[in-house]
Amino acid sequence: MDQRRIEGFSDEGAGRAAPDLVVRPTQDADIAAVAAIYAHHVCHGTASFELEPPSPTEMGERWRGVVGMGCPHLVAVRSERVLGYAYAAPYRSRPAYRHTVENSVYVDQLAHRQGIGGALLERLILECAERGFRQIVAVIGDNAPASIGLHASRGFETVGRLHAVGFKFGRWCDTTLMQRPLGEGAATLPSAS
Ligand SMILES: CC(C)(COP(=O)(O)OP(=O)(O)OC[C@H]1O[C@@H](n2cnc3c(N)ncnc32)[C@H](O)[C@@H]1OP(=O)(O)O)[C@@H](O)C(=O)NCCC(=O)NCCS
Repeated sequence: MDQRRIEGFSDEGAGRAAPDLVVRPTQDADIAAVAAIYAHHVCHGTASFELEPPSPTEMGERWRGVVGMGCPHLVAVRSERVLGYAYAAPYRSRPAYRHTVENSVYVDQLAHRQGIGGALLERLILECAERGFRQIVAVIGDNAPASIGLHASRGFETVGRLHAVGFKFGRWCDTTLMQRPLGEGAATLPSAS
């Protein structure tokens, strides 16, 4: 099956991004920039429910862990500068969840609304489908409109909301759960494994 024809997928988004934007697998040399992008969002936003920014060393270990589990970890680069990153990892560890991943996308706070998040998420969807995963889930911290808009624009549907499951910056935070099928989704059974 041509995974570029997965239902609901459009090549349009990558075209909306700046033409010189490159989305590629994360490399060791990217980790400092990835850690800096994430640190800003941990310290100033509620997309992540972490309270302290992980060190570059910790982020490197997380990157190696994601790739080591056979999942994609990508960066968006323009003029040799890492402007965003995205990855997918197992949704939950119990083995019956093995065909489902959860994704994350973070873009440099100075580079929003330039098509970077969309380009990253589209490539991530393709990479996950090509690896045979069947469902992708986004857990949107604090019901963030930008993240909900991003995921909705790439075929995710809102499937639920959890109330007051987080507490950050002195207030309760909800999460919105969004989901998108990958490849043949639930229309066929996975290959035996
Ligand atoms: C969510 C985030 C990754 C979006 O990245 P981005 O590069 O600004 O997104 P894009 O420019 O590619 O926009 C893609 C689509 O997302 C939606 N979107 C982006 N920002 C939005 C906003 N502020 N409000 C509503 N929709 C928005 C739009 O549908 C947009 O399509 P359009 O450009 O045709 O309008 C970015 O805002 C971010 O890093 N936020 C903090 C971290 C976060 O929330 N990550 C998600 C955790 S899963």
